[in-house]
Amino acid sequence: MIWSKKHILDIASLSRDEISMILETASGLKEISERPIKKVPTLRGKTVVLFFMEPSTRTRISFDIAAKRLSADSISIAASSSSIIKGETLIDTARNIEAMRPDIIVIRHSSAGAPHLLAQNLSVSIVNAGDGMHAHPTQALLDMMTVKEIKKDFTNLKVAIIGDIAHSRVARSNIIGFSRMGANVTIAGPPTMIPAGIEALGTTIAKNVDEAIEDADVIMMLRIQKERQKSFLMPSEREYAVRFGLNRSRLQRIRSDALILHPGPINRGIEIAPEAADGPHSIILDQVTNGVALRMAVFYLLAGGIRNADSD
Ligand code: CP
Repeated sequence: MIWSKKHILDIASLSRDEISMILETASGLKEISERPIKKVPTLRGKTVVLFFMEPSTRTRISFDIAAKRLSADSISIAASSSSIIKGETLIDTARNIEAMRPDIIVIRHSSAGAPHLLAQNLSVSIVNAGDGMHAHPTQALLDMMTVKEIKKDFTNLKVAIIGDIAHSRVARSNIIGFSRMGANVTIAGPPTMIPAGIEALGTTIAKNVDEAIEDADVIMMLRIQKERQKSFLMPSEREYAVRFGLNRSRLQRIRSDALILHPGPINRGIEIAPEAADGPHSIILDQVTNGVALRMAVFYLLAGGIRNADSD
């Protein structure tokens, strides 16, 4: 297969073969980060702009390290240091960045659709690093990579995604991604945090958290996205931890080979107990490690790799 996409905007626009190609490319690039000299010249002379209009630890640093490991030049811009705070529109700011001839712009934005808007209006490659409640494609891809390393195959894998589904771009991207690869995805959480019609993405809704995690091969816990909720949709965090968290009691009832994931940032003691976050089932830090390789693969395919056309 030859890579032909110009942008990575969401999981929905990636075929099963394209997802497999990204995961295989990432697996091949992963060992570079284990070398004493963690750098290859593959993207020397290429420029990547990291345009982050929302806070980020993992995603921004991961994209930055990924670019540097491939010898691309990377430049970071934050909302607070861009001319957007002086009244310039997103498109005008992006067009000015494009005029400096970067090869890829990675954007995180609080508004759903912002990366698609840039893709429609610019000719540079765009990578979505999270847009509002819509999509976080590289997070879902690194989650799939991390699960595949251990479980080998997605077919009929039982994936449970638990928590604030309504406000989670990670949940949407993972539901689409895992189900496209053949897994059975179940969700659970407070009824106020389960959006109407979510089943259309390729998931079923469990009666409660216990039903969702019973027999699950993969348990993905989500943070309550307070910054996106107009009002807190649970009486208290303590009640949330008891009714919906992966607490000590639930941890004792999961499968012995179940994997626990969390995209981060975690709220310890609320959606996930420390025993679950730090225990033997947890692959949370493996997700972060794989994030670098996954984003190296994205840069490689978009900017340097085996792309045959400016399609999409
Ligand atoms: N998973 C994730 O997007 O984390 P950050 O917000 O720290 O980038």
